[in-house]
Amino acid sequence: MKRLDQVLASDGTSAELELVIKDVMVACKDIAYKLSQGELAGILGATEDENIQGETQKMLDVISNDLLKDILCANPFVKGVGSEEEDFTIAGHADGKFLVTFDPLDGSSNIDVNLSVGTIFSILEAPADNRTGDDQEVFLQEGRKQVAAGYVLYGPSSLLVMTTGKGVNLFTLDTNIGEFVLTKPMLQIPEDTAEFAINMSNQRFWEPEMKQYIDDCLKGEEGCLGKRYNMRWVASMVAEVHRILIRGGIFMYPYDSRDPSKAGKLRLMYEGNPMSMIVEQAGGASSTGRMDIMDVEPKGIHDRVPVVLGSKNEVAKVIAYHTK
Ligand code: AHG
Ligand code: MN
Ligand code: MN
Repeated sequence: MKRLDQVLASDGTSAELELVIKDVMVACKDIAYKLSQGELAGILGATEDENIQGETQKMLDVISNDLLKDILCANPFVKGVGSEEEDFTIAGHADGKFLVTFDPLDGSSNIDVNLSVGTIFSILEAPADNRTGDDQEVFLQEGRKQVAAGYVLYGPSSLLVMTTGKGVNLFTLDTNIGEFVLTKPMLQIPEDTAEFAINMSNQRFWEPEMKQYIDDCLKGEEGCLGKRYNMRWVASMVAEVHRILIRGGIFMYPYDSRDPSKAGKLRLMYEGNPMSMIVEQAGGASSTGRMDIMDVEPKGIHDRVPVVLGSKNEVAKVIAYHTK
């Protein structure tokens, strides 16, 4: 079986980009180990701090963030990083070619109950000018411009799913050799599905279009969608997207009116965009309901976005509800 470095070397990825991806994986292997230690290492539970988005930080959110930030800022090819857990973007090397944004630990409400969490990353090319990585403006590019995107899912095994724009590969961490090895090349999302994932407890806050789609799903064979749906909600986007990559499905975190000033719960630059690139590269679709997520122009590193992604024919139905 091929190791990650062998796959990257044979698919035309530049040596510089490969070194950035490998550093992300060094941090992720360390995160996987720390997660496996859990209570033994005394690192479960919350800190007393909140991130800039007003969410309480778990100890492992902070530890994972520091691991990624430290290794990437020391990489000569990284101009800067942006993270869910950092208020501002951070400068790396002034002449670095790449910018990396990440969600160090996604689904972190699952940590204390020993359920799946993940790391999400997105890599952009840095503009070739004199600005440094602590200027967030250099990061503000549409998702279409990503050169690589991926996630690591820490579950019963640790998995890396990533793309450099030439399809999506799945690697499994072989803890014997400490390497990610290719276990499923060229993932393809089934085009149709009857399985949706959405946090139903927010139903009363959704827009009428989303309410209508879910109402029609719940009607099953008797409704206008004409099939019986199943539902899943793991509360970890990485786990939901992974399920969709393996067996199809649709994942939604739509706009809701709990805080009308926010465009959605999920963040564009380190959740929406990388997951959209992966899903599209695997033959699925991704939308806000009204436009492609990867065409949304970011105004800030922590911008939020409504997310609808997964099996392409089902995503098309949700778009039709929003645009008819
Ligand atoms: P994070 O832990 O990085 O803040 O992200 C959690 C996100 C996402 O992974 C998940 O789909 C969603 O929040 C869960 O939200 P609910 O709490 O509404 O279930
Ligand atoms: Mn997240
Ligand atoms: Mn997170």
